[in-house]
Amino acid sequence: MKVAVLGAAGGIGQALALLLKTQLPSGSELSLYDIAPVTPGVAVDLSHIPTAVKIKGFSGEDARPALEGAEVVLISAGVARKPGMDRSDLFNVNAGIVRNLVQQIATTCPSACIGIITNPVNSTVAIAAEVLKKAGVYDKNKLFGVTTLDTLRANTFVAELKGKSPEEVEVSVIGGHSGVTILPLLSQIPGVSFSDSEVESLTRHIQDAGTEVVEAKAGGGSATLSMGQAAARLGLSLVNALQGKSGVVECSYVEGNGEYARFFAQPVLLGKNGIAEFKEIGHLSAFEKQALDAMLSVLHKDIELGEQFVNK
Ligand code: NAI
Repeated sequence: MKVAVLGAAGGIGQALALLLKTQLPSGSELSLYDIAPVTPGVAVDLSHIPTAVKIKGFSGEDARPALEGAEVVLISAGVARKPGMDRSDLFNVNAGIVRNLVQQIATTCPSACIGIITNPVNSTVAIAAEVLKKAGVYDKNKLFGVTTLDTLRANTFVAELKGKSPEEVEVSVIGGHSGVTILPLLSQIPGVSFSDSEVESLTRHIQDAGTEVVEAKAGGGSATLSMGQAAARLGLSLVNALQGKSGVVECSYVEGNGEYARFFAQPVLLGKNGIAEFKEIGHLSAFEKQALDAMLSVLHKDIELGEQFVNK
């Protein structure tokens, strides 16, 4: 199994590469690409960790040498937020970066599973889908907006509030990946109940957690280490499922049946060919129903922005 990380010299990319070097199954290959010239050096650095994962780094304008034969591609290339910025403020720079990289994936490893980390995820996933469609290689079962960090944050905050062990909590987070479009389904966590005010404040905390990190880093970037962990979780889930492991379920921002929006974060069962099944979002509380209704106009606009960027 070959995994490629694009944007591998960045804050997320380096953390992700480290986790993959230490956790990918023996015999895997890890390919690191970034425009930054340091990238081959990052790979040399990681190559001294004694695991049976072969690693190689590539830099420069051409991503294709890094993509040859890749079965999973994780993209964190692009700029990150500074205090006062919204994820949508990143669109102007990151839209072109994602378009360019996905074009190269379309010609080099068109059947790879692609995980898009680069923000604004609500729009960059639509860009990736349109680029792949234009190239005639789009498979909606293989394109993932990485929203795993929302799940990790929800698991952590719920465990803290309710005195549980964080490893035992698993929260479905649906919708999208920005502000009000992030909707944790707190009503579905087995054996845990919340007051109305807890639901409200916890939901807000999960939605605003990315901004908390941006502010705490005071101009030094956004979430990188927790995001590296989140992307590694999704990447490893994909690798395991592609290799035949059964019962692997992750929430991800994907093109499902379009009931709420063309792209929507929901639980999906992973299999040997990417998504094996789009799972139901299940029963929602009145609070969650209302929050879902309220997010849709934002989500539709974000998706349209991405679609238009490619098709204008
Ligand atoms: P960073 O600035 O540390 O790293 C970005 C890397 O991308 C740099 O090494 C840069 O050289 C590289 N890059 C820029 N243009 C490129 C191109 N055309 N080809 C290849 N590489 C290129 O940023 P960081 O913190 O790693 O964040 C990356 C992205 O991830 C941002 O867009 C950020 O908003 C997003 N993010 C997404 C999250 C999610 O939950 N999905 C959470 C946190 C951040």
